[in-house]
Amino acid sequence: MNPGSIAVMASGRGSNLAVILDAIEAGSCPVDLRLVISDRAGAEALTIARRAGVPEVVHISPKQYADRAAFDAACADAIEAAGCQWIVLAGYMRILSPSFVQRFAGRIINIHPALLPSFIGADGVGDALTYGVKLSGCTVHLVDEVLDGGPILAQAAVPVCDDDSRDSLHLRIQQAEHQLYPATLTRIVTTGFRLDGRRVIWLKP
Ligand code: GAR
Repeated sequence: MNPGSIAVMASGRGSNLAVILDAIEAGSCPVDLRLVISDRAGAEALTIARRAGVPEVVHISPKQYADRAAFDAACADAIEAAGCQWIVLAGYMRILSPSFVQRFAGRIINIHPALLPSFIGADGVGDALTYGVKLSGCTVHLVDEVLDGGPILAQAAVPVCDDDSRDSLHLRIQQAEHQLYPATLTRIVTTGFRLDGRRVIWLKP
């Protein structure tokens, strides 16, 4: 298996997928993006992936499976068949079943729109705004069986402004995500890291 091969799972707009594809195209992110999976037929991410010529782009519908574990197993089979080392979640809005996480232990990466461990869950942006923090940001982390709880690979902070709406804050966070995600993927497949407990220790280039 190519150590730089990745599958992206996305549910929505796909702006993180788009910047990863741009970075690959520009030669600044040496990953081999072989597969994009979406759980939503209308996800813009699918269009972006097809337009960019990703070798395999699939919609897998949760409705066609009896339960979450069966749906996740179908996704996992597609990922294994494509020979992907890393699974990159980019706005993937479903909670992964324990069997999926165990099958790819230490190889699933997520980006979350808040500074973890604060504001886990589906609305990290809105929850941070409502709480009243003055700094928020984004976190790239490994996925384990705890929701938004795996070891942290990288973070970037952005200010929260007094006149922010949820949308304006999310836009600022996404600008940070678009720098951080391709850069972190590059670091993963070039230098790599080891774990010391929960701490991610980046190896020297
Ligand atoms: C991103 O902001 C990402 O952090 C967030 O969804 C957005 C997807 O945007 N993910 C989560 O909230 C996961 N819990 P995109 O589809 O434009 O990449």
